[in-house]
Amino acid sequence: MATGSAPGKVILFGEHAVVYGRPAIAAPVSQVAATATVTPGAPGSGCVLDLSDIGETVPVTGASTEQPLALVTKLALDVLGLATPDWRIVLHSTIPVSSGLGSGAAAATAIVRAIAAASDRSLTAGEISALVYQSETLFHGTPSGIDNTVIAYEQPVWFVRGQPPEPFSIARPVTLVIGDTGIASPTSITVGDVRRGWQADPRRYEYVFDAIARATVAAYHAIESGDLAELGRLMNGNHALLQELEVSSPELDRLCAAARQAGALGAKLSGGGRGGNMIALVEPAAAETVASALRQAGTVRTITTTVAACA
Ligand code: MEV
Repeated sequence: MATGSAPGKVILFGEHAVVYGRPAIAAPVSQVAATATVTPGAPGSGCVLDLSDIGETVPVTGASTEQPLALVTKLALDVLGLATPDWRIVLHSTIPVSSGLGSGAAAATAIVRAIAAASDRSLTAGEISALVYQSETLFHGTPSGIDNTVIAYEQPVWFVRGQPPEPFSIARPVTLVIGDTGIASPTSITVGDVRRGWQADPRRYEYVFDAIARATVAAYHAIESGDLAELGRLMNGNHALLQELEVSSPELDRLCAAARQAGALGAKLSGGGRGGNMIALVEPAAAETVASALRQAGTVRTITTTVAACA
């Protein structure tokens, strides 16, 4: 038996604009995770994925490549030079799907890690990220690659599409309360809508993407210098720009307002938007007050996570 696991993620700054070459900042969230376990199957059964949380079984051997997790399993087996072993790969995940926390990329990463462990081989974070990116293109068309990168590297990253991720220094821990609207919102839909908007009015969209990029660069400096008050203001500004892209929703706006009113330094939606999760930046002492205000405002659950300081 061999296992592999992978955390969820949040995007702190730059979602959507990152698809168009602007920078973004993201961090792993270890409070939620996907875990894959490889167990021997019956001789001649081939490789089968058991998506136990949704009660689905997907044969990998001979499966259509339309199934993203079957695709990444096949790719990982190929890269590791394993033909078609008789394996049952069982996947469990505590990451809500279509919620902006990277459930698809985490599931794929856990599977790749489990396959590598079962074959006693190791893959670099870059190799895992590249394999998972291919399944991401089936999940949502034109991914920037930020989800597979932050999840495979498991560290906060400054990310620009097509470039290796850059770690950066964090002067003071960044404590976030993540609030889930409970509304599933597939990234493929919001990314597709933004693309249609951009095609119809490129000048307006490019202007908003540039403004998001400026907020992301300023956030990078605020994180490096430990200026959390400024970081919070920048989050509020990034949320307003995402509203202009029409990827927010009344629920996300209400949760962000409730968090700010309860003392958060700033708040914004995180990920694809329209549903899914928002994040609130808090002083650690205010985390419980903000989490409780979010629950009262209708969030289905909250997670408090801290991005640790590092040199
Ligand atoms: C999804 O986590 C983030 C988006 O920017 C899409 C992407 O980067 O591929 C909305």
